Amino acid sequence: MNNAVILAGGMGKRMKSDKPKVLLEVLGKPMLQWVIDACNDAGISNICVVKGYGADMLDEYLLGSLRTVLQPERLGTGHAVSCASCFLEEFSDGNTLIACGDSPFIDPETIKSSLELHIASKSAVTVITACLDNPRGYGRIIRSEDGIEGIVEEKDCSDSQRKINEISSGCYWFNTKKLLEALPRLQRNNSQGEYYLTDTISILKSDGCVAQAYLSDNQDSVLGANDRAGLLRLNDIARMKVIFKHLEAGVELISTDAVTISPDVKIAPGAKILPGSMLMGKTIIGRDSVIGPNTRLLNVTVGERSTLDNVVATDSRVGSDAKIGPFVQLRPGSVIADKAHIGNFVEIKNSAIGKGSSVSHLTYIGDSDVGKNVNFGCGTVTVNYDGSVKSRCEIGDNAFIGCNTNLVAPVKIGEAAYTAAGSTITKDVPDGALAIERGTQVIKEDYAKQKLKRHLEKGKALD
Ligand code: UD1
Ligand code: CA
Repeated sequence: MNNAVILAGGMGKRMKSDKPKVLLEVLGKPMLQWVIDACNDAGISNICVVKGYGADMLDEYLLGSLRTVLQPERLGTGHAVSCASCFLEEFSDGNTLIACGDSPFIDPETIKSSLELHIASKSAVTVITACLDNPRGYGRIIRSEDGIEGIVEEKDCSDSQRKINEISSGCYWFNTKKLLEALPRLQRNNSQGEYYLTDTISILKSDGCVAQAYLSDNQDSVLGANDRAGLLRLNDIARMKVIFKHLEAGVELISTDAVTISPDVKIAPGAKILPGSMLMGKTIIGRDSVIGPNTRLLNVTVGERSTLDNVVATDSRVGSDAKIGPFVQLRPGSVIADKAHIGNFVEIKNSAIGKGSSVSHLTYIGDSDVGKNVNFGCGTVTVNYDGSVKSRCEIGDNAFIGCNTNLVAPVKIGEAAYTAAGSTITKDVPDGALAIERGTQVIKEDYAKQKLKRHLEKGKALD
């Protein structure tokens, strides 16, 4: 059985963050999650994460979805792997992938092809490597006739070793049994005083085992981030890569300016993404929909031919042929049906808006179930919160809500019912009825003329 250990114990001092480094994000997704997803996509679901610095934050993030083991102090990558020995012993029949949680671009194809080489060459260890123009900071690969001799860390390199540009990605396949044999023999006799995982290679070689390198032609797949500038670089690389993937799939962009698309977002061909748009999380965009400009979507599903212009939406669904915006917020739990129109300056929260309904101006709808073809006048407010309890409003099909109506929840407006403009509705309105709740208008004829007369008379009296 193949399994993986992901090293995530490091602090990432140079990031100057309270979070463990592996939780810092590339395109809105933690670096660790990129690595977990790559393992899963390569068919490895049996994963153990080594946590250390900020372990509680890591637990909070993983929510028990993966096995974890604590590295109580940071004594190096070799020590980190030893902390997972119990996990390795349970699955010692197969091979184990060791990956670094701070190198997010390791891809499933590289993981799978390197395993093939690892098995075919009967290696005890296969290191995934790449040739970099600037290998600074990485461990250098020392090749031998039958594979590799070892890995030398930058800080321990001789001048000639430092010139080698084939580097270790920090990701390896190990024969699990052999790894378990090598780990207890690691020593800290290096410039950093750490237990280096890389030293297992020379140990295994001295046992007469085969050690191989799998040279990846994808230079980016080995990149890691050690500081904020490095993290920005990873974001830049990933951003353009994701954008080009969508362009190839038939998505239209007129400019890439401030367009950020998370790696798990799905966009159908023919959709158009306009400048300033951030599509994050598990967002899905249907055919021929137009998103943006300046639209931020997190976990939002949009149907076909809909437009979202200057919209902020979270955990919501929008149907097809809907028109949202400009200047709309859809808060979590909003479900907007086909052909609905929302905007301008409208906020919807935890509400369903039925097919063809229109909420066109300056309105707040919270905790409500709105039927089909309902029309909301400008300035409608659902009064859903009494300070302690949130209640729902129910509005039937074809209802017509007059401008500036307050709907005090819980309240039900019947099908095809009307509310008069300016009404504060506190009682249910039956189907087809009109509810008026406002003072009766009084007309005072010639009011202006009489006011002027009174004013003039007062002036005379003062003379
Ligand atoms: C490591 C490799 C180097 C490789 C590079 C690729 C070693 C000794 N060096 O160097 O050959 O080129 O990765 O990016 O293995 N970690 C722990 N506990 C620790 C130390 C580290 O969990 O005690 C984790 C870190 O969170 C990180 C990973 O291991 O995810 C790598 O550690 P890091 O300190 O970044 O190693 P590098 O110096 O980058
Ligand atoms: Ca690193």
